[in-house]
Amino acid sequence: MKLKIGVLTSGGDCPGLNAVLRGIVRKSNEYNHTIIGILNGWKGIFEEDYMVLGNKEVSGILNRGGTIIGTSRFSPFEQKDGKKILMEKIHKADFDAIICIGGEGSMHIAQQAYEAGVNCIGIPKTIDNDIYGTDFTFGFDTAVNIATDAIDRLHTTAESHHRVMLLEVMGRNAGWIAVYAGIAGGADVILIPERKVVIDEIVDVIKTRYTRGKLFSIIVVAEGAKIDESELKFIDKSLKRNIKKDDFGRERLGGICNYLAEELEQRSGFEIRTTILGYVQRGGMPTAFDRILGTRFGVYSVEMVIAKKFGRMCAVVSNKITDITIKKAISKLKTVDMEIYKTAQVFFK
Ligand code: F6P
Repeated sequence: MKLKIGVLTSGGDCPGLNAVLRGIVRKSNEYNHTIIGILNGWKGIFEEDYMVLGNKEVSGILNRGGTIIGTSRFSPFEQKDGKKILMEKIHKADFDAIICIGGEGSMHIAQQAYEAGVNCIGIPKTIDNDIYGTDFTFGFDTAVNIATDAIDRLHTTAESHHRVMLLEVMGRNAGWIAVYAGIAGGADVILIPERKVVIDEIVDVIKTRYTRGKLFSIIVVAEGAKIDESELKFIDKSLKRNIKKDDFGRERLGGICNYLAEELEQRSGFEIRTTILGYVQRGGMPTAFDRILGTRFGVYSVEMVIAKKFGRMCAVVSNKITDITIKKAISKLKTVDMEIYKTAQVFFK
């Protein structure tokens, strides 16, 4: 049966989204399904903002960053009469199924939509790699490579100037980017949200390295790393919290590096510099790994629609593509495995 499938990208963009869209369209050709791109996430349904995605539209996009159909953090269920409007608009558009490509926040919306009666399928995406039930999300590998390149570059300038360099990376409340890039780049300390920061431990590493003739250090800081106020002796504590919220109502992170640097400089006496890597981690071309994973997810999601696997999200487990319920995927956050963190810790000296 020929189906009309709506596809949307929701939440922060990441490299590999276009590879997924191309995978969906090309696989759908086999069945003559119609693929409709819903523009700018769930908002596109409210605004009836659609575009047909055919071979022409997805041609040449495999290696392109971002998403050709736009994204947003719009949640239908946070709007007045949101559920009613959503159902009416979906009915009007006559979608047989909706594929939601998104991160943790977007999967919550996909689950709500499924519970409201939408034939919804999820595809996990995020540079943060924090979605439970999948070994990897696409976007993560690209972000790790960009952060590793940044560490490599910081190494040469840190060494030349005998400085301590702090590099802040993204990842929200999971330290995956920090740990992977930190190991790949040879970081001397990696701070992650999963483990409370002890400032004296960092100072010890910097000083021990100094006595070994290593006059510089590289410290990778996950944006979500947690520092107790009691740990801060020298800085203005009001600097500590950035209380702005994103459209999903979650605290916006970023900037921890700045007050941490201040505290470390006062305690250690070393010259510290900070780099907040920010959005470059999300921009630009996806790596081969992310293109392949995105393509596999895209192709598989069409098979899921045909098999009516609604309320489920595709996942990669031991390099095999499979699917789990979205409910399970959002039941908890996939935080850093302490086994890999212990490997990183071997080099904190
Ligand atoms: O979830 C991806 C991510 O890049 C996080 O690592 C980061 O905290 C957040 O999005 C930033 O989001 P925004 O685009 O709203 O600034």
